[in-house]
Amino acid sequence: MSPFIHLNPSAQEWVYDSVGAQGGSQEATILAFHKTLPDYNETRLHSLPDLAAELGLGNVLLKDESNRFGLPAFKILGASWAVYRAVGSHLGLSVSDGSAPLADVGAKAREVGVRVVTLTEGNCGRAVSRMAAKIMGIPTKVFVPKYMDERTRNKIRSEGAEIIEVDGSYDDVIPVAQREAEASDKAILILDVLELTGGKPATHAIVPVGAGSIGEAVTAHFKSASRRKQFGPAKVLSVEPTTAACLLESLKVGKSIAVPTEDTIMCGMNCGTLSTTAWPVLRDGVDASIVVTDLEAHNAVQELEARSILAGPCGAATLAALRRACTDAKQELGLSDTSIVVLYCTEGPREYPVPSS
Ligand SMILES: Cc1ncc(COP(=O)(O)O)c(C=O)c1O
Repeated sequence: MSPFIHLNPSAQEWVYDSVGAQGGSQEATILAFHKTLPDYNETRLHSLPDLAAELGLGNVLLKDESNRFGLPAFKILGASWAVYRAVGSHLGLSVSDGSAPLADVGAKAREVGVRVVTLTEGNCGRAVSRMAAKIMGIPTKVFVPKYMDERTRNKIRSEGAEIIEVDGSYDDVIPVAQREAEASDKAILILDVLELTGGKPATHAIVPVGAGSIGEAVTAHFKSASRRKQFGPAKVLSVEPTTAACLLESLKVGKSIAVPTEDTIMCGMNCGTLSTTAWPVLRDGVDASIVVTDLEAHNAVQELEARSILAGPCGAATLAALRRACTDAKQELGLSDTSIVVLYCTEGPREYPVPSS
């Protein structure tokens, strides 16, 4: 088998147990909460018939998650709920069922002097800052790795957060932010968190993985008993940068391991360790873990652009993974001219250094 793909045949029959899952299934509550936020919208679904024909597939659909609540990445979906829940629980308010109004949670947090602490490669920190600092008015500190560029820092600052630089990689930032949060009982640490088909049900979903939260959500959805009963089985494929393949390497050894990472244009996916809640779901539910190079992601950005879909490298990585899957394991993955493949595009266009190889 290709070194770029790890197959996980037992995932085919695995069913996600939403009742036994940590915190139980709260889809309806969270959706209702998201609808209360400014600029809530359903995201677009593009059909790519020429690509499907070229790859010998039934249909390829691209779910454009690259703009949520006015931010150019999906991250605010999880970040908004996480901040609301964490701050509200800290204050003893009823947030698990979404009943405490957001404005009340923000007002009480400011009165009591609560602070939010987070860490980021970019998108997640901006999303936490939008929610905590800008929408809820809570002082927010964002710890970032030294190599984060000034443009990204400024975007986070524009949400009203303070940036603290740490000398090291994303994984080195984690303990520093943890210590800051532990030093005060008023500081709350926030760490990194879809159906569409178009007539016929999707047979394959491809999702980017960094720390694994969106992968966990997509896997939980496609592998849930209710979805399987209504639409039949679906395969979930994950994509990571070759330089930050923590899921692929963890699947190979059967336990969650940390891997060294290197710089990549897929910044949001540049994580060396999976989240502890994501790992068991990804381990059991992901049918194939695929890695792609910066060049493949860049080519996919250009390919989408030629179809008038503007995506960043993380967003286009799923298309690069589909190409890899069709080249290296089409038959094993059951990809055929009846397949309906959904690509999750998690990032809108942004500048990045164009890779030469
Ligand atoms: C644009 C983008 N895509 C994908 C991911 C990966 O998401 P996760 O960390 O939930 O695996 C991230 C994470 O920050 C991201 O910013």
